[in-house]
Amino acid sequence: MKAFVALSWCLVLFSCDALVSSALDTITTNQSIRDGESLVSAGETFELGFFSLGDPPKRYLGIWYKKITSMTIVWVANRVAPLADASGTLRVTSRGSLVLLDGNGSEIWSSSPPTAARDPVAQLLDVGNLVVRDADGSDSNNFLWQSFDYPTDTVLAGMKIGWNRTSGFNRYLTSWKSVDDPSPGNFTYQLDPNGYPQIVLKQGSEIKLRSGPWNGLRWSGTPNLNPNPYYRYEFVLNEDEMYYRYALLNSSVISRKILMPNGIVQRFNWIDRTRGWTHHLTAPIDQCDDYNSCGAYGTCRVDTSPECSCLKGFVPKFSQEWDILDWSNGCVRRNPLHCQDDIFVKYSSLKLPDTRSSWFNASMNLRECEVFCKKNCSCTGYSNMDIRDGGSGCLLWFGELIDIREYNNYGQDLYIRMAASESALLPTGPSHQKKHKLVIGLAISFGSVFLGLVLTICVLQCKKKKMGLREVKKDRFESGDNYESEKEDLELPLFDLSTIAMATNNFSTDNKLGEGGFGPVYKGVLKGGQEIAVKKLSRDSRQGLHEFKNEVLYVSKLQHRNLVKLLGCCIQEENLLIYELMPNRSLDSFLFDPTQREQLDWSARFNIINGIARGLLYLHQDSRLRIIHRDVKASNILLDFEMNPKISDFGLAKSFAGNETQANTNRVVGTYGYMSPEYALDGVFSTKSDVFSYGVLVLEIVSGKGNRGFHHPDHHHNLLGHAWKIFTEGRSMQLLDKLVENSCSTSEALRSIHIGLLCVQRCPNDRPSMSTVVMMLGSDIELPLPKEPGFFNERNLLQENTSDSQPNEMTMTVLSAR
Ligand SMILES: *[C@@H]1O[C@H](CO)[C@@H](O)[C@H](O)[C@H]1NC(C)=O
Ligand SMILES: *[C@@H]1O[C@H](CO)[C@@H](O)[C@H](O)[C@H]1NC(C)=O
Ligand SMILES: *[C@@H]1O[C@H](CO)[C@@H](O)[C@H](O)[C@H]1NC(C)=O
Ligand SMILES: *[C@@H]1O[C@H](CO)[C@@H](O)[C@H](O)[C@H]1NC(C)=O
Ligand SMILES: *[C@@H]1O[C@H](CO)[C@@H](O)[C@H](O)[C@H]1NC(C)=O
Ligand SMILES: *[C@@H]1O[C@H](CO)[C@@H](O)[C@H](O)[C@H]1NC(C)=O
Ligand SMILES: *[C@@H]1O[C@H](CO)[C@@H](O)[C@H](O)[C@H]1NC(C)=O
Repeated sequence: MKAFVALSWCLVLFSCDALVSSALDTITTNQSIRDGESLVSAGETFELGFFSLGDPPKRYLGIWYKKITSMTIVWVANRVAPLADASGTLRVTSRGSLVLLDGNGSEIWSSSPPTAARDPVAQLLDVGNLVVRDADGSDSNNFLWQSFDYPTDTVLAGMKIGWNRTSGFNRYLTSWKSVDDPSPGNFTYQLDPNGYPQIVLKQGSEIKLRSGPWNGLRWSGTPNLNPNPYYRYEFVLNEDEMYYRYALLNSSVISRKILMPNGIVQRFNWIDRTRGWTHHLTAPIDQCDDYNSCGAYGTCRVDTSPECSCLKGFVPKFSQEWDILDWSNGCVRRNPLHCQDDIFVKYSSLKLPDTRSSWFNASMNLRECEVFCKKNCSCTGYSNMDIRDGGSGCLLWFGELIDIREYNNYGQDLYIRMAASESALLPTGPSHQKKHKLVIGLAISFGSVFLGLVLTICVLQCKKKKMGLREVKKDRFESGDNYESEKEDLELPLFDLSTIAMATNNFSTDNKLGEGGFGPVYKGVLKGGQEIAVKKLSRDSRQGLHEFKNEVLYVSKLQHRNLVKLLGCCIQEENLLIYELMPNRSLDSFLFDPTQREQLDWSARFNIINGIARGLLYLHQDSRLRIIHRDVKASNILLDFEMNPKISDFGLAKSFAGNETQANTNRVVGTYGYMSPEYALDGVFSTKSDVFSYGVLVLEIVSGKGNRGFHHPDHHHNLLGHAWKIFTEGRSMQLLDKLVENSCSTSEALRSIHIGLLCVQRCPNDRPSMSTVVMMLGSDIELPLPKEPGFFNERNLLQENTSDSQPNEMTMTVLSAR
């Protein structure tokens, strides 16, 4: 029976040489591995050999998973020195060094440094570690060399990321340059040894992301790194070493963590064959993960808009900058410190600030920590090092506190040095807190009225301006508490018409990018070199003016990496909206163009599917405004230079109150093919209408075909109907665009199709919310079976209503039959 299983497994993988030729895991000094040969680890988990990448193909020596068909490379030896042909040979020298030789016998790569060895052998261990050791010594402490000490972009279980403090040797990840070029890219992922150690992700020398200090259970900035049945993290800090690593708890599970060429860290697990690689953890997760995004003493929250605010007792350093959402200079104390009589105020639920200028002592308790901090006037804050068992250890900060964020759960406590005059911030009776809440409540309820004024202010200000980019300084919403009211400020820079005319070459046709929902869009370059896209409202469009206002109101209040960024507006003779330019235009220009489509490989598509989901989640839930977009479609998804998706066009968006979940409208607006049945037929819209449109979009991205205009020789269903039909027949993969078949992760594709179908179910209550969608995309939880989609065979009925002569989908307005 076992043999049978092995054989069928082997047939599936069509690479049976391991079984047939019983490959070696070890070579001695008089053996070699030539291109075409390989080493296979004893348990057949890993294989070492030669493989090709790039165009024209170059040959590399590397390690991959033996049992996984899609070649998943975990280590590359000659990442900077590829071989031009298949003439490479790997040898172990008698001095114990591995050398890679080309066809002429020249050394291409070697494992350094060569050491004195008696009888060295090279062995590929079953954990994926290629080691050189003495033939009679297999003690891991005596390896002469090991590939685990020279990671490329992947961390495997057991591998240490960090330092030997005695020798100063550092093990860290460096991204590949691109998916088909393993030479070192711009990103590194390493343990920063300054202060109390933490993991940092850097682009060049610039920190992009910081894990926060280890708190005994996890890194302070990874609150969702919960105990799980697959692996366990370990952080070690002693005299000799500081590193972190993970151990697999279940040997039948395969897990790897990879630093992608675009600087994103992802963990993939392979739990069983049918599901393939499942994706578990990504960093950065949201805009608050961006390093120091809110400046010193600023704090980032994903569920507020804007996301940055000052910690209690602090005010923006430059409020004008803060008003235009530039938080880089952060906040300063409302009241200056006086050293000896300062107090410490507790702040909770935080990701602890950057510890690069910190000091720690594991045997001190919190009380001793406070005393110690108080004594030294440059000590700005303290906290426990370890949060287990009620907390222990002392962590002290010196200098400004930066890169703080707030969580709803799981965050940590931090005690910050404050002036004695801030004693009101110390916990007292409940009366103070009540007042604070009331002020916030007021500020929120007046917020929307306040927004309504913006456009008027915009007009007034614009008339006064003569010069280019200016900021509008508006009256503050008056309330008792100036700090809270500042959060409600909406700032929109005004551009002068002549500036924009110059930037767009007088709106020349050469600069025209296309036609949006309410007028033409032009590209341009400002004097400073910033590239912009300018939306111009057609003068005779009344509906357009409404949409224009809508867009100003919403987009200016929203900040998310997956939403397009509005730079400003102009309301002089022309009504203009000025955006940052998205060099790759919109998703439809790739997806529905037979030549461009090729450029969207699977990882780009999956990234787009994920990004749109996060953008919509932000709109529906995380932004304070809570917005339904109402026109989610491929042409409203713009792509930046790295193909990251940005949702655009808020002309039809509607804000809804916190507890309201649906609304009716008698003007149905949206785009055929993307509109949910309840909305198109009854004018009822809710966040679930956006979920429907999102589902359509996911199926379009996976298949590379538009829902409208979809034809199949066998039936009259539209894309949704077709997808559902083949899903129920268990043939989902046939939906996949042929162009991505090679680059595709089967599990991700199947999951995307499944989620797409859940989103387009006929009944809104059956559809998942965007937060569920994001969760389903990022984990491998079991998905429910989708019910029949809405509109799956009603293509003809809908198309009768519209003019098919329009090649580009335009946003249509229909009066509903209600
Ligand atoms: C060289 O290989 C032979 C087998 O082919 C083996 O018996 C011998 O011990 C090897 N010599 C060394 C120095 O490893
Ligand atoms: C080997 O040497 C020849 C002649 O010097 C050269 O043309 C060729 O490129 C070399 N091949 C490799 C793989 O370096
Ligand atoms: C750290 O480096 C020193 C000096 O090279 C070495 O003696 C020691 O064994 C190393 N420690 C570990 C844990 O590898
Ligand atoms: C790496 O950084 C350099 C300089 O900052 C830049 O020119 C290059 O495009 C970057 N490469 C990648 C792959 O991001
Ligand atoms: C290990 O994981 C496999 C696959 O998920 C599961 O079937 C098995 O029960 C697990 N074993 C243990 C000891 O948890
Ligand atoms: C850490 O704190 C303990 C207890 O207060 C003290 O004995 C020890 O000297 C401290 N260590 C350092 C390095 O300051
Ligand atoms: C306060 O701490 C800083 C940083 O550790 C140190 O440089 C300075 O000497 C200390 N000052 C006093 C008075 O202990």
